[in-house]
Amino acid sequence: MKNLFSYEGKRCLFVGCATGMGAAAAKAVQLLGGEAHGVDYREPDYKLASFTSCDLRDESQVDSMLGSLEAPFHAVFYCAGLPPTYSALDNVKVNISALRKVAEGVHPLVPRGGAMAFIASMGGMQFMDNLDVLNDFLSTDGSFAAAEAWCEAHADNVNEGYGFSKQAAILYTINRALAVVGDGVRVNCISPGSTDTPMMPEFEKFAPPEMIKAFYGPLDRAAQPEEMGWPLVFLNSDAATFITGLNLIIDGGFAAGMATGLIDLNEILSGLAEAT
Ligand SMILES: NC(=O)c1ccc[n+]([C@@H]2O[C@H](COP(=O)([O-])OP(=O)(O)OC[C@H]3O[C@@H](n4cnc5c(N)ncnc54)[C@H](O)[C@@H]3O)[C@@H](O)[C@H]2O)c1
Repeated sequence: MKNLFSYEGKRCLFVGCATGMGAAAAKAVQLLGGEAHGVDYREPDYKLASFTSCDLRDESQVDSMLGSLEAPFHAVFYCAGLPPTYSALDNVKVNISALRKVAEGVHPLVPRGGAMAFIASMGGMQFMDNLDVLNDFLSTDGSFAAAEAWCEAHADNVNEGYGFSKQAAILYTINRALAVVGDGVRVNCISPGSTDTPMMPEFEKFAPPEMIKAFYGPLDRAAQPEEMGWPLVFLNSDAATFITGLNLIIDGGFAAGMATGLIDLNEILSGLAEAT
């Protein structure tokens, strides 16, 4: 019987590889025998098959990074992200515009049977309430300039940028999965809950610790980066060949609590509004 979790013989791309969930996923893939190539604007402190420096807020750097890549990439992981302590536009650029550029730019290098996995967020969980607005944003041509112009014209929808960009990332994942299904390429994302990465102190500047803890869910703790890295690695593995268009919520049971009514999101959000 074949080990479908194995990454032997697979070349993999990790955008946002320096720290946190992206680093955890890249290390997991290497443990499973895969070849990990990384992209980030910060140097990783562990060994990769190659590393390309790129600031994903700069479209010309993204274009030249994409132009430097050589086929094949059997698995693509987009793990880069910025928190709401950065500007709305920086959030939109890194959390969705560069994600979209990478997904579409790398696509020709991905053979049939390949897969992509992105990181969205529980912060985008209400995307279904916002489909028309998000689809309008995603109907722009994919350039940073078009995204920026749309955001300027729709500042009320974009708000602080993080939630909007994460909602857009989830909907983009679903749209993209269906668009490329005929090419034999799967596309999924995860929506993490609170996770103990270098981004966490940034969230703590934006929301008080008690509010962050309110989102912990029944497991009553933050996740470790590996608890997001391994599910990403599973989604891009041959063990997940019937999974595409999935937004995998990994939140220690928070969404399950909401679905059953044990957790009241409105109560939490009104507490958050009062505290900020
Ligand atoms: N930590 C959490 O609680 C949490 C919760 C939900 C979602 N997320 C999402 O998870 C993803 C991974 O974040 P993380 O928690 O591992 O934090 P992290 O800060 O450790 O990882 C983010 C990575 O993206 C890279 N990056 C950021 N801006 C970049 C840029 N302009 N150009 C190139 N690289 C850039 C960083 O250098 C880093 O390697 C992000 O999309 C984040 O929004 C995090």
